[in-house]
Amino acid sequence: MNKTALLPAAALLLAFTSAAPAADIEAGKAKSVVCQACHGADGNGIGDPQYPFLAGQYADYLEKALRDYRSGERNNPIMLGFASTLSDADIVNLAAFFASQSTTKLRDLQDVK
Ligand code: HEC
Repeated sequence: MNKTALLPAAALLLAFTSAAPAADIEAGKAKSVVCQACHGADGNGIGDPQYPFLAGQYADYLEKALRDYRSGERNNPIMLGFASTLSDADIVNLAAFFASQSTTKLRDLQDVK
């Protein structure tokens, strides 16, 4: 195999191995002010079931949701408006902030006996 054939593979490898930026929870908290009106200050909602809880959710799930709203893959006019203002770093930081908040509302199967 010649070297030019290897280049795309090397580029791909680089894309996957380049370290994701470390999440900055404090920056995420600062950025979350605009989200609080609907999702609550700590992501535990505002008592209105139309707004999902974000607190304690897996960070990678929150990141994916925000990226999907931004790209239109997940279609919601309200969240499109907010997500489209976010950079990749904002998304990582916001997801880390909400994931780090404690919740009494979000459940997973660990509680099922
Ligand atoms: C005006 C109200 C409003 C504001 C402000 C708002 N959201 Fe949302 N958000 C919603 C609604 C409504 C949904 C549910 C949309 C759907 O059905 O997909 C949602 C869904 C989400 C979800 C998906 C949750 C899940 O369980 O799948 C995430 C993540 C999210 N919002 C993050 C944010 C972040 C981060 C901000 C601030 C940058 C923000 N939202 C600001 C109303 C809002």
